[in-house]
Amino acid sequence: MRILEQTPAKYDHGMRILTLGRIDRVKREIVSAWVESGHDVLEVGCGTGSLAAMMIRCGAHVTGIDISAKMLATARKNAPEAEFIHMTATEIGKLGADRFDRIVATLSLSELSEDELDFVIRISFVLLKAGGKLVVADEVPPSGWWKRFLACLIRWPLAALAFLLTQSTTHALKMFDGLVEHAGFRIVYRRVYLFGTLALIVAEKA
Ligand SMILES: C[S@@+](CC[C@H](N)C(=O)[O-])C[C@H]1O[C@@H](n2cnc3c(N)ncnc32)[C@H](O)[C@@H]1O
Repeated sequence: MRILEQTPAKYDHGMRILTLGRIDRVKREIVSAWVESGHDVLEVGCGTGSLAAMMIRCGAHVTGIDISAKMLATARKNAPEAEFIHMTATEIGKLGADRFDRIVATLSLSELSEDELDFVIRISFVLLKAGGKLVVADEVPPSGWWKRFLACLIRWPLAALAFLLTQSTTHALKMFDGLVEHAGFRIVYRRVYLFGTLALIVAEKA
């Protein structure tokens, strides 16, 4: 989402268009169902801090990390009570073991390479407290050929627009379930949206 990420002021509006408004509803669902007052939450790829601001309002202590200094500057304005750190997702191990109740990532893990994704999932297991949860909302490949066909048919104008706006393609999270289970997590919730192309997945550190 590189072009949008260079222009944070337009970013939230652009993402709303690209996800047909669904991403805002998914963020609200994350906050109401999976984040509680007093939780220590790490947000990976926090972008403009829109979700961080919602989690702060619900009483959580939020640490957001992002690779983009421009996004973080906007996040600091949108959620001044959160702590924001300029680092890449693969550096989160520095933040300390058994520290977080939740690790949340929306539309950011799909920007990682397969190796980075595997590493971030495994290090998330270390960072979470026992019983803590990894909460991920991101692009997934729809399951079943007819769903993939339907998704292509309906989503290709959006995909074309996404490419025009971002000049980049993301990697829908293939093999995600296997990676989280291999890291030791147990998947406790999964819901798909937008013709099976966007999923909210919650995995628990048993
Ligand atoms: C599509 S945006 C999503 C932002 C926000 N989570 C949201 O849902 O609105 C992806 C974010 O991930 C960040 N990002 C991409 N690669 C990253 C990496 N390797 N480490 C940390 N952040 C990264 C980008 O800078 C960007 O802010």
